[in-house]
Amino acid sequence: MTAVGIDAIEIRSGKLKLDLPNTFAPQKGDDPEKYTKGLGLNNSSFPDVYEDIVTMGANAAKSLMDRKGLVPADIGRIDVATESAFDHSKPVSTYIAGCLEQVYDDDFRHANKGERKFACVAGTQAIDDAYNWIKAGRHRGRAALVVATDTALYARGDPGEATQGAGAVAMLISEDPSIVELSTHQGYGSMDETDFLKPNQQFPSVDGKRSMQVYLARMREALEDYQSVAGKVHLDDFAYAPFHTPFPGMVRKAALLAYRHIIRDTEIEDDLAGEIGRQPREDDYEDREAYEAAIREHMDELKTTDAYQSWYADAVEPTLGLSREVGNWYTGSVHVARASALRDAIAKDRDFVGETLLVGSYGSGAQAEIHAETVREGWREEIEGLDIDAQLDARYDLSWEEYEDVHDVHEYDKDVEREIEEFTAPSEEFVFTGWGRMNERKYEYIA
Ligand code: CAA
Repeated sequence: MTAVGIDAIEIRSGKLKLDLPNTFAPQKGDDPEKYTKGLGLNNSSFPDVYEDIVTMGANAAKSLMDRKGLVPADIGRIDVATESAFDHSKPVSTYIAGCLEQVYDDDFRHANKGERKFACVAGTQAIDDAYNWIKAGRHRGRAALVVATDTALYARGDPGEATQGAGAVAMLISEDPSIVELSTHQGYGSMDETDFLKPNQQFPSVDGKRSMQVYLARMREALEDYQSVAGKVHLDDFAYAPFHTPFPGMVRKAALLAYRHIIRDTEIEDDLAGEIGRQPREDDYEDREAYEAAIREHMDELKTTDAYQSWYADAVEPTLGLSREVGNWYTGSVHVARASALRDAIAKDRDFVGETLLVGSYGSGAQAEIHAETVREGWREEIEGLDIDAQLDARYDLSWEEYEDVHDVHEYDKDVEREIEEFTAPSEEFVFTGWGRMNERKYEYIA
């Protein structure tokens, strides 16, 4: 059977940075550790005045095409996943293709273009679409370009403001891929929820605490569904577990839940029983409330055990490295987590071709998806090609007043009367230049 999966990845960060402990926390009157330790975030990436989902997506896509030596004829499909689209009809993929056509000789008129929406899980769904298209044999030997791009902005003063971010991840999905092969097996947990939504509004309505509960519930269902088709998951089956990361603290909660679930009725639970007892079973309790209290107590103990902490340090913590520095990128977030894991494997000089990642995606509204990915021969070369460290180092560090200004610039309905200068100088990249005759957004390549 032909292997299908991710052949190349490029990451493009917004060019500005908001320092959470040093710039954001003092303004909110908060202890900086609420951000660095509680949420697990140091900085958010923010878009400069000439950046948006199209520029970041097109810049990531161009880097990917150039690094792989691709021309438009090599790409049969362009799918953009976003929850920050500014147009209810014309998909962002057409804008991105339009940008790319400014710099390549040929065009993308042959390519099937679309836009995928389901909050943050849409990036994974767009990869699925590409996978199915290739597996169905409809691709005529060509690859699919999937771009997950978002400006994850919240209304000023919303509790989510601390978890903002902006960036794009471009991925090439192909036969015989260099980085990872995707599993055929998948698990889903999907329910009609109103935890986080944007009904005809730019910034989300968020029930933050509930959104965290919904994330955990749907993720658990997705894991159960995945096991129903792939068989029971064991901890040593996979090297890393990259999960959707709205902020690292969320993944810390999800990881503990996943660990408890995975070790139940295994030797690991038996081994831990002497130290912290066996996991509470619902049948042993009079009511749900008593059972839940026992579970909470057990989890508090479980997270202090050496067994859990060493698994977390090996399989989960390394997936959070980039997220800590960029915040939430919505559709791109789980793909940033995968990249962090692969970068960790390089840092540890791991030879892990053939090893497996357990990937958990999540979108509010709400749906979780879990699948496995097997690392391929060319992974190291591809991941070594990423320039994300240089991008992060080059970000402009916003003062509080500058942050307020640039947030206003990106708010569609806000009449920004003062002219805001760009904070960084564009070079060799696509930039937003203003609105056209039909209210379309316009872009140019700056050489
Ligand atoms: N030192 C260390 N830790 C501290 C601290 C300090 N001084 N002060 C607070 N903390 C801890 C808190 O204990 C808490 O951790 P625990 O949950 O483990 O107890 C953490 O820091 C955050 O503190 P609060 O809960 O008080 O923070 P908050 O109420 O201001 O906001 C939030 C948290 C509700 C998640 C908010 O950021 C939010 O609404 N975010 C947007 C929604 C979101 O990201 N939801 C995640 C699931 S939905 C999803 O994943 C989709 C998506 O991408 C949006």
